[in-house]
Amino acid sequence: MEKIRVGFIGCGGRAGAHMSSFLEMTDEVEVVAVADPVEERRLAAAEKFGCKRIYKDHTELYDHESKETLDALIIAIEPTAHTDTETRAIEKGIPFLIEKPVHIDLEKAEEIGKKIEETGLITAVGFQDRYLDLMDIIKEELPKHKTGGLVYGAWVGGIPGVWWWQKKSTCGGQLVEQNIHLVDGLRYLYGEPLSVYATCSRGIVRPGVDAKEEYDTDDHSTAVIRFSNNVTATLVSGCYSRGVRPRCGLYITLDDMVLDYRLRNNLIISTPDGEKDIPRGVNQTLLLDKAFIAAVRTGDRSLIRSDYADSLKSHRLAFAANKSMETGEVIYF
Ligand SMILES: NC(=O)c1ccc[n+]([C@@H]2O[C@H](COP(=O)([O-])OP(=O)(O)OC[C@H]3O[C@@H](n4cnc5c(N)ncnc54)[C@H](O)[C@@H]3O)[C@@H](O)[C@H]2O)c1
Repeated sequence: MEKIRVGFIGCGGRAGAHMSSFLEMTDEVEVVAVADPVEERRLAAAEKFGCKRIYKDHTELYDHESKETLDALIIAIEPTAHTDTETRAIEKGIPFLIEKPVHIDLEKAEEIGKKIEETGLITAVGFQDRYLDLMDIIKEELPKHKTGGLVYGAWVGGIPGVWWWQKKSTCGGQLVEQNIHLVDGLRYLYGEPLSVYATCSRGIVRPGVDAKEEYDTDDHSTAVIRFSNNVTATLVSGCYSRGVRPRCGLYITLDDMVLDYRLRNNLIISTPDGEKDIPRGVNQTLLLDKAFIAAVRTGDRSLIRSDYADSLKSHRLAFAANKSMETGEVIYF
């Protein structure tokens, strides 16, 4: 089997998870090019794979690489760093897996989405939770019960260490940057939303004390999302906790069952007959990467659970929630 030749644009934290996948896939993947403006990061990445094509950024990589030298790209850069990072891949016809959020500016993401549609390029987005065995169980279980009900979703914790998380203008806010995983999870389970209303709050995290001086993102937000079939989800996001681990995940109340999904860890299913606790049994990022590589190899896009076009729907919902936070209005789709 010929190895799929992969390049990395961005060698930071999240890229490291994809690199770990490829270290487990050395019989089918060869990382041949890496790019990052931070020298230590690009060198460390190159060393992992014995890779010789090392670039200082995406521009230098695209100036030297083509469809003939690269079969696929992983784009894992800060939300604000998306410039022509994707359009140059599209022009060159190189399939890419891109991390969420795919852009800080939804309009620009829509333009990129159109270009992808016109060319038919294979893409995948880093919504890793779609590849979880626990998500599969929930997705299979839901249609067996009366439709409708309440969902409580939460992603509450501290402030991630990366510099760009401190400002809403560079991270997009927690819902867009982080809790978009559960936004996407809700769409995966319930389909397209009907409406969203959201609020946000600041004042708990003290800039310069609990966070960097420039901190100006929301400490917490709450989004109420209506879906068809009488499903209402309340999704909370919070980044003000310190030294404690609030419960994160989805808590789904059906007429005769409760599905208590503890974020990327386990699923507790309660029925009138008792309780079953199922631990996560897969490495979902590895499955995401395997699906992308298999799609590149075979052309079978059905293996990819969220491509750029599908991911735009989750981004639209998260950005609409942001708009609702600003305007106080309900946004209808
Ligand atoms: N899917 C997930 O579960 C998951 C988890 C964590 C982060 N993420 C997402 O991944 C993205 C990256 O997050 P991170 O934690 O790795 O951030 P990071 O800051 O650790 O890494 C980003 C890297 O991109 C590099 N970079 C910036 N511009 C570049 C360019 N033009 N060319 C090449 N490299 C460039 C930076 O120098 C940096 O090393 C974010 O969008 C984040 O939301 C996804």
